[in-house]
Amino acid sequence: MGGEDIEEFIDLRSDTVTQPSQEMREAMYKAVVGDDIMGEDSTVRELEIMSADILGKEAALFVTSGTMGNQIAVMTLTNRGEEVIVGNTSHIYNLEVGALAALCQVQARPMEVPNGVYDIKKMEGLIQEKGIQNAKTSLICIENTNNLNAGYVVPLDNLNNVCNLAKRNNILVHLDGARVFNAQVASKTPVKEIVKNADTVMFALTKGLAAPFGAILAGNKDIIAKARWMKQRMGGGYRQAGFLAAPGIVALNTMLPQIEIDHKHALILGKGLAKINGLKVEISKIHTNIISGSIEDLPTTIDCFIGKLMQKGIKVKRISEVSFRMVTHYGVGESHLYEVIRAIEDIVDSL
Ligand SMILES: Cc1ncc(COP(=O)(O)O)c(C=O)c1O
Repeated sequence: MGGEDIEEFIDLRSDTVTQPSQEMREAMYKAVVGDDIMGEDSTVRELEIMSADILGKEAALFVTSGTMGNQIAVMTLTNRGEEVIVGNTSHIYNLEVGALAALCQVQARPMEVPNGVYDIKKMEGLIQEKGIQNAKTSLICIENTNNLNAGYVVPLDNLNNVCNLAKRNNILVHLDGARVFNAQVASKTPVKEIVKNADTVMFALTKGLAAPFGAILAGNKDIIAKARWMKQRMGGGYRQAGFLAAPGIVALNTMLPQIEIDHKHALILGKGLAKINGLKVEISKIHTNIISGSIEDLPTTIDCFIGKLMQKGIKVKRISEVSFRMVTHYGVGESHLYEVIRAIEDIVDSL
């Protein structure tokens, strides 16, 4: 395993902090590799074909990260100076270092997405026709699961309504599905149905699927051929990348049941926390593996609260002056949940 301190902590900051399973480590060691730029890495190819098949898309591309997958999608589907509609709390808009502007050279038009539901009328109002003074809207980027620090599942009919609106207006749709398998599990809807009407979809191998590296971008053959070229342009051409793709294959084969466990754990943890006097956790907002809580009614500060948790070996993420986030994942067992609840009860009792 990684290091002593990693094992000692219960790390709830994100589902990206997982250690790879033994099977993933062995698959990395044994991977058959080749020059991927020349199309000769059979392990990368296997992961791409498998991913396309799972998503019901014609083709898929193995990329470095969710960020790279999102940005390659935008570059592939837009032209310089066009507009892209995005959620105002979306990852693509907030947490990708301004790449929409800096790399893709498009203009973002953000909209609110309360509780992970897109208001179709409002979205329609944001669409720009090409005119002498304005930039044409060419892409809508949606996110499922949705919303920074929340993990809401976007209802299927809402997703389809966004795609229908886009189609009527000759606009393409990219789905940031970094956690789309969490959406599949929570909504009991096959992932193929969730992504069916999006032109491109990205999912991360490194979140609930617990692989150490990478993400997948999928779409039709033409789009993915262009995306592969964009990836190369960004310096994302791989050589013997089968070592990195191999744990992704194991992740897709073995980790889906873990996501179901993560969701159960999030509910156990959320319900336990909601019972603590002064701590605010809304159970109805826990759709998947992400729990948000507020300490606004407690006589402490968020930094002090998080610091005390840290002293007890528990890491959580600060979201605002009064709120924090916890995310369940492969590295969090059921006994950890009760440990966290007890630790917070003790902290609150001592205030
Ligand atoms: C919704 C969403 N999209 C994209 C990403 C980016 O993924 P990566 O960290 O692999 O770049 C994240 C990462 O947390 C995410 O939550």
